[in-house]
Amino acid sequence: MRIGILTGGGDCPGLNAVVRAVVRRSVKDYKSEVVGFLEGFKGPLENMIMPLTMQSTGGLIHRGGTILRTSRTDPFKLDNGPQRIIDSIARHRLDALIVCGGDDTCAVANRLYEEHGVNLVCIPKTIDNDIKTTDFAFGFDTAINIVAEALDRLHTTAESHNRVLVCEVMGRHSGWIACYGGIAGGADFILVPEKPVNLNDVVSAIKQRHARGRDFSILVVSEGARFDDAALNEQLGPQDQTGRSNLAGIGELLARLIERDTGFETRATTLGHIQRGGSPTAFDRVLATRFGVKAADMVHEGKFGQMVALRGYDLVEVPIKEAATGYKPLDMDLYKVSEVFFG
Ligand code: F6P
Repeated sequence: MRIGILTGGGDCPGLNAVVRAVVRRSVKDYKSEVVGFLEGFKGPLENMIMPLTMQSTGGLIHRGGTILRTSRTDPFKLDNGPQRIIDSIARHRLDALIVCGGDDTCAVANRLYEEHGVNLVCIPKTIDNDIKTTDFAFGFDTAINIVAEALDRLHTTAESHNRVLVCEVMGRHSGWIACYGGIAGGADFILVPEKPVNLNDVVSAIKQRHARGRDFSILVVSEGARFDDAALNEQLGPQDQTGRSNLAGIGELLARLIERDTGFETRATTLGHIQRGGSPTAFDRVLATRFGVKAADMVHEGKFGQMVALRGYDLVEVPIKEAATGYKPLDMDLYKVSEVFFG
């Protein structure tokens, strides 16, 4: 077979491990050829390709980012976009496409499969862990380890200054990163998009800590978290430049409000893209490798329109359309565990 592979959406640690695994399995065990499209769906649209061999994809397992580069290009928003993808696949004599992406990329892939009959298989990636039908996507474990380490560091400076430190983390639609990272880093309050927060609850928790002699506090807030008070949320302001809203800002606002209402010196730190950069953890390297090998198997078995997913310890095949509609919210039982440590 001749197989194309692309990585779409935001990058995350583990993408190179996937590319390496797809190539190794396809070339070594199926005697197939693999070609990489560059920059997500922009690759097939603009004929940007890279031949991939076992040699060129060796030594990649520990490298962050994606050698194929990535973009959020949506062919359905462009003139004749889907047809240009189909033409590109034909031009390169490809039998199938492996698409590695998050919810948006999987939604595009699903439309290409359902509406245009493109033979493709998806692999879920996202640091946010909000893709439905898979327990975990790779990238998430690396992100939460970065958050936990950042919180360890924030702890020592918070203690030294008797400060409240607010750490804003990624998580556009869901609080997985905030909750896992926050529990691991011993957060004293965690704010997530799934549960609009009352400012007084946050303030009371901090005051309670001070009343029992803890003169510092560490809070973790998802970028997508909101207050239960519309007037406060309005202060965040719409910052929409590319059709996607730029969510960063809740951490700074929360810090200002906490300082105002408690009188305690408060600072905010936004981890931002640090959470997406650098080497994947061992867990993400292994998960990405398992996904890549399985996706290569699925392509060779003709299991198109499917996505590889993790259920418990096992890999399963699920229809892409189930993964591509909506988001997987944070497990609120886990949030309840984190609440035990608030205040
Ligand atoms: O979807 C992954 C993610 O990292 C989100 O957590 C975040 O909101 C978004 O990407 C940021 O996107 P960009 O890198 O385009 O600013």
